Amino acid sequence: MGSILIKTEIPGPKSREIARERERFVASPMGSLAPFYIERGHGAVVEDVDGNRFLDFTGGWGCLVVGHSHPRVISAVKDQAEKFLHTDFTAVPYKPFADLAKMIAERAPGNFEKQVAFFNSGAEAVENAVKIAKGVTHRKAIVVFENAFHGRTLLTMTMTHRAMPYKYIYGPFASEVYRLPFPNPHTNKMKIGGFEQVLKDNVYPEDVAAIVIEPIQGEGGFNVPPEGFLEELRAVCDKYGIMLVADEVQSGYGRTGKLFAIQNWNVVPDLVSLGKSIAAGLPLSAVVGKKEYFDKLPGSSIGSTFGGNPVACRAGIEVLHIIDEEKLLDRAVEYGKIIDENFKELQKKYSVVGETRGIGAMRAIEFVKDRDTWEPDSETAKAVIMESLQNGLILAGAGIHGNVIRFLIPLVMSEDELREGLEVLDKAIAKVMGK
Ligand SMILES: Cc1ncc(COP(=O)(O)O)c(C=O)c1O
Repeated sequence: MGSILIKTEIPGPKSREIARERERFVASPMGSLAPFYIERGHGAVVEDVDGNRFLDFTGGWGCLVVGHSHPRVISAVKDQAEKFLHTDFTAVPYKPFADLAKMIAERAPGNFEKQVAFFNSGAEAVENAVKIAKGVTHRKAIVVFENAFHGRTLLTMTMTHRAMPYKYIYGPFASEVYRLPFPNPHTNKMKIGGFEQVLKDNVYPEDVAAIVIEPIQGEGGFNVPPEGFLEELRAVCDKYGIMLVADEVQSGYGRTGKLFAIQNWNVVPDLVSLGKSIAAGLPLSAVVGKKEYFDKLPGSSIGSTFGGNPVACRAGIEVLHIIDEEKLLDRAVEYGKIIDENFKELQKKYSVVGETRGIGAMRAIEFVKDRDTWEPDSETAKAVIMESLQNGLILAGAGIHGNVIRFLIPLVMSEDELREGLEVLDKAIAKVMGK
């Protein structure tokens, strides 16, 4: 028997009742992918209020590398909640903040002394990484890439590419943000070896504080930079004194088979922003980087009232223990192979599946109307996501045109669960294609 169990129509009666209240009181732009309401989650399984069971391949939009409600996380959270919930580390400090900082610093790329600052959301981490880069370099400009997603605050919304829905008419946007092409074999706008010239064509390099890049683009569609590109960025940064910031909010924490996705290349960034999976679903984000950079900044110039909350830090410590003890990095590689083989089969079977890509378990398929013109097929991607939902699989879309389906799976799931989910996806594509 599989993990999926559908007992009612979706959404079921209890979910529909909650939806009626929600529609009255919850701000309308805060939509949800699933039409049902969760009662409890465990590992990769979500049970809704009507008793239906789903496999969650979105992992709370990439926050659940260790799955829903891992027992180790729960017991640490309970223990911490009974001791104290909050002080603000800058008022009364506590050990879990320092312990987690040590654990992250020891694991982050770079053979030098590192320090860690904690915040709440991914956007806050990215925004602070940029602030640190500006404080260290005394420069104003930052460089970002096509398809990037960095968050929804004023600065990170500016850094994010997609206008609708993220930027809409919410300008004026932050100044001195320069967007350059991300190398893409289908558009070929940025070639390996050509980055320095493109940079110079857009901005005076000595005016650039940081180049911010997702080592594998998340919301943008799991785009993997071609061999040599990140190395080239590193070299250009070194030449002009620019800081290289890896935004690992989505790509980090194990899903590529390395704790930090950038460790798949021989490139050491100056700063890394982390979020999502680092505290198993509790709000926590971080910036990790060279100690000497932090030493240059005035006291209290970075921080946040709730940043590095003790309960979240305790969860964060458990996440790293779980990744180590349950060998989740190896699991990501192993599951990545299964997903890749399966996606290649889908590509053979269905002409709408134009491409499959990714590293480790961070993998996606892209839907196209035509493999020659590469015209995006967002309608099919959306229909497949909806069909899968009805059959017990929660899937995340992605891509600037919404024509990508990406796997953000909890790595604690069993192989049977992975295969069960892949089968639902296959059948959903077949159904949508009328096969
Ligand atoms: C790469 C990346 N950076 C930043 C963010 C923003 O994180 P948050 O939504 O926690 O602010 C996201 C969220 O999807 C992300 O994928």
